[in-house]
Amino acid sequence: MPAGTRTCPCCSCATFGTGGAESRHASVVSYAFLALLSCGLGLLSTATMAADARRTTFGTLSNGTSVEAAELSNATGIKVRIMTLGASIQSLLAPDRRGHIADIVLGFDSAQEYLQDNHYFGGTVGRFANRISKGRFTLDSHSFVLATNDHGNHLHGGKVGFNKVLWILRSVKSGAPAIATFSYVSPDGEEGYPGTLRVTATFSLDDKNTLQVEYTASTDRPTIVNISSHNYFQLGAGVAGASAMDDTLQILASRYTPVDAQLIPTGELRSVSGTPFDFLQPTAVGQRVRDGNDLQLRFGRGYDHNFALDGAGTALREAARIYSPGTGRILEILTAAPGLQFYSGNFLDSTTAGKQGALYREGDALVFEPQLFPDAPNKANFRSARLDPGRIYRNTIVYRFSTDNPVNFRQDANPREPTN
Ligand code: GLA
Repeated sequence: MPAGTRTCPCCSCATFGTGGAESRHASVVSYAFLALLSCGLGLLSTATMAADARRTTFGTLSNGTSVEAAELSNATGIKVRIMTLGASIQSLLAPDRRGHIADIVLGFDSAQEYLQDNHYFGGTVGRFANRISKGRFTLDSHSFVLATNDHGNHLHGGKVGFNKVLWILRSVKSGAPAIATFSYVSPDGEEGYPGTLRVTATFSLDDKNTLQVEYTASTDRPTIVNISSHNYFQLGAGVAGASAMDDTLQILASRYTPVDAQLIPTGELRSVSGTPFDFLQPTAVGQRVRDGNDLQLRFGRGYDHNFALDGAGTALREAARIYSPGTGRILEILTAAPGLQFYSGNFLDSTTAGKQGALYREGDALVFEPQLFPDAPNKANFRSARLDPGRIYRNTIVYRFSTDNPVNFRQDANPREPTN
């Protein structure tokens, strides 16, 4: 609700009270009619409030290929740019508690830089997000060998994953919500995967500051699929010296999947209780990240682990909540996926200069990847990543943005105050 706006006594609508209407309402009965009219118009405008979508060009690759982009924006100041290279979120502007807008995701200013990137900034990761041990798996007694790109293992789709290919921007539509749809056809055998995989990535933004990313896929042969979005969130953006290590994080997971030294899950589901992996209550990320007594943190050089989300089924539910005390930004992540990889940006070692030449360092940003469990194709006790012809794979990720100051940020219904 904008500053100075008061709640209408007759129907609690927030449009009442601006421009002196409140005093008229209080003193003269006939003005009640005007107030009701004002409420009605307010409701009408709420009902038709739309977000804007436009098609644009992001840049050109060094081989001359043009990279298109879709930009979705709403009246609050949220603006997301998704480009055809990797169906990647290239920028995401969001206001802080004072209404100051900053880009809250890491990445690059030019498309070409994304081609050389090995951090997967903002990218759509697939066909299989995360790791497959030794790049091998068996399906219907056929053995498949995938491209390996991470210490002899397969990571995020292989040498040329979905984040490095050009997608087609199918449609861009303003509305409530504004929607941009991308598609990609992954040929049979690409990076070693069986089956032609037809993939869509749909990004939508509404006026309540909800950004939804939905991946769907279908195949013509039995295969495996696990697609996710690899954004580096820097909720402290715009405040000098803000560190993502100060962000408080809540992950609704009582268990996680411990890994070996190469970050391949052992197959165990371990309780987070009494460990640095217990984020059931909001806790600053940096509080335990340097706990060298925890072998798992040593393996990951920090957090780089899959959390087994509580209540995992098929319905969308809240998985994580991140709050930046410096800027007041709040990000809630909802998913129907069983797992959430939380990666604390441990491989950002100041060798990569990103947007505006900024050297990215450990602690700059946090990554959350809703997904099936890593190495699921080789772990009988993990939910299967198998996709058969005639079935639709789907992964829906919802990012809800708000701040701890409702005055400068139109909130989603019933925002919760940060608990720390
Ligand atoms: C994922 C992995 C990390 C790392 C990053 C990219 O999140 O789990 O180990 O490879 O991608 O740098």
